[in-house]
Amino acid sequence: MTGLRADSYPPSPRPSPTKRGRGSKDDIVVLSGLAESAAAELLREIERVAAVAPFRNMVVPGGHSMSVAMTNCGRLGWVTDRSGYRYTERDPLSGRAWAAMPRAFGELATRAAAEAGFGEFAPDACLVNRYEPGARMGLHQDRNEADFGQPIVSVSLGLPATFLWGGAKRRDPVRRLPLRHGDVVVWGGAARLRFHGVAPLGRQAPTFGGTPGMHPATGGFRFNLTFRRAG
Ligand code: SIN
Ligand code: FE2
Repeated sequence: MTGLRADSYPPSPRPSPTKRGRGSKDDIVVLSGLAESAAAELLREIERVAAVAPFRNMVVPGGHSMSVAMTNCGRLGWVTDRSGYRYTERDPLSGRAWAAMPRAFGELATRAAAEAGFGEFAPDACLVNRYEPGARMGLHQDRNEADFGQPIVSVSLGLPATFLWGGAKRRDPVRRLPLRHGDVVVWGGAARLRFHGVAPLGRQAPTFGGTPGMHPATGGFRFNLTFRRAG
């Protein structure tokens, strides 16, 4: 058992990182715990990003509000409203630019992409997702970016979640991947347009002596950082 940190959750041994350094251009790459040592800094930066552009539940074109609250940092930010999905240089709520991409974010994204076999990934957009118990993200493709040659890097912080990893078609079978605090997943290449989503966040996380539904680093939330090359 290696390096179990005091703030890891649940406090059980972690399998050693999977697939590290073995880039797979046609399937998702799971880098277990890659972001764990940077987590405290990443969470401080999320607070700064949200001070510039607060978390909000955006409306999808169909008219309903998303259960996941979102904000962005970087040159471009992903937004949705009744007129559709797109990237913008400014927060539509304030008219101000999104917060700059924190250095710790960019460095982690570039390193994770490289470990998954995608060199020189330089994200210009980071969507920050905040889930409360019950929040979910339906199956979708990430297809608002200009260049599908660039991968997606996705970092999980706080409460655990089940990632849904589908296929090229919405109705293809879905794999359920448990994601924990500090896990990073990368997909690109032939897998870049695979359907994916997040199952409803559990209302009762395992307790192990802690408070149900609470993570020591994030309280009652899961945060997800999704890095893209959008422009
Ligand atoms: C997303 O697909 O944008 C979010 C994925 C996640 O929260 O893990
Ligand atoms: Fe996505």
